[in-house]
This record gives sequence, structure tokens and C-alpha cells, in this order.
Amino acid sequence: MSNLISIEFITTSPEETKELARRLGKHLRPETLLLLYGDLGSGKTTFIKGLCEALEVPEDTFVVSPTFSLINIYKGRYPIFHVDLYRLSEEEAFELGLWENLEEGIIVVEWADRLSFLPPKVEPLSIFFEHLDLNTRKIKLQGSQQWLYILKELERDAQSHR
Ligand SMILES: Nc1ncnc2c1ncn2[C@@H]1O[C@H](COP(=O)(O)OP(=O)(O)O)[C@@H](O)[C@H]1O
Ligand SMILES: [Mg+2]
Repeated sequence: MSNLISIEFITTSPEETKELARRLGKHLRPETLLLLYGDLGSGKTTFIKGLCEALEVPEDTFVVSPTFSLINIYKGRYPIFHVDLYRLSEEEAFELGLWENLEEGIIVVEWADRLSFLPPKVEPLSIFFEHLDLNTRKIKLQGSQQWLYILKELERDAQSHR
């Protein structure tokens, strides 16, 4: 296992969470896997809305957890595959054949702790959401060395926004 790098942010509104996601989204390219962890209401879907904005998904696209459709595909600068494993069993998740899409676009998985299998050769970015109080969330981004540059950029952006 390579060393993981992590940085933490505190956001105090949904808009701030989206802003953080927009800053991350600008750097994303195809063959990216984002693993999102955190309880219901901790801000995962809100974050994905911000990612979609940065990736130029049209504003009238409905970005919600794909509870019944299993995977939502948004057409932005690259395709974004949005998966929510909250109601899926491990077999069902496996049968989605998720990783087949990886080369083509960006895969974002809510409730990633339900995944027992990861694709080979890709270094995911894990994002942990924690509910601190009504409007406050702790968001920790963690990835291998491959993510160092982007995580440093996010840290720098955050300092210049203070
Ligand atoms: N700082 C914050 N970041 C994200 N969401 C927040 C924040 N403060 C309040 N909220 C609210 O919390 C809820 C988060 O919901 P959602 O993004 O759907 O969470 P999840 O996908 O993790 O279940 C929304 O109703 C949002 O308005
Ligand atoms: Mg959600």
C-alpha cells in the first residue's frame, strides 16, 4: 500500500460544500474513481452537484441519488457515472459492471463502504463526510501520491478564500 495523503475541510453551508466540490471537479479527468463515505444527510449528493457544475453538466440536469435507476449518467465535459449503493446488496453492486465505464469517464460512488471490490490500476480518491451540526460538515479527502498535486491545490485555494 502506498502512503495516503489526506486533507480536511469544514464547510458551514451546502453552498460551501458545492464550492469545494467545484474546485476539485476542475481537476478531474476520465479514469477517475471517487469513493464517498458518510451517513445519510452528510452531504455526499450535494458535493456531487458541485462536481457536476465544474464538469459543465447542463444546469437543468437532475442530480440526485440514483436510488431506483442504480446509475445516473450525466453528460458533462466527460460522462459522470453516479452510483449510490445504499440499497444495493454486494452482488447487485457487482452486477452493475461499474468499472467498464472507468476509461470513459468519472465514477462517483456514494456509500462506497459497500464495495468489496475495486478496479485494478486506478488510485481512487476517498471522501469522508461527517455531520457536525445542522449546517456544518467535516469533509476529508484522502488519496495516494497520485492525488498530491490536486490536494495541494485545494489546500491553497482554501487558504486564499479565508
Ligand atoms: N455544510 C453542508 N454541506 C452539505 N449539505 C449540507 C450542509 N449543511 C446543511 N446541509 C444539508 O444537508 C443535506 C445533505 O443531503 P445530501 O447531500 O443529499 O446528503 P447525502 O447524499 O450524504 O445523503 C441537504 O439537505 C443539505 O441542504
Ligand atoms: Mg445521497
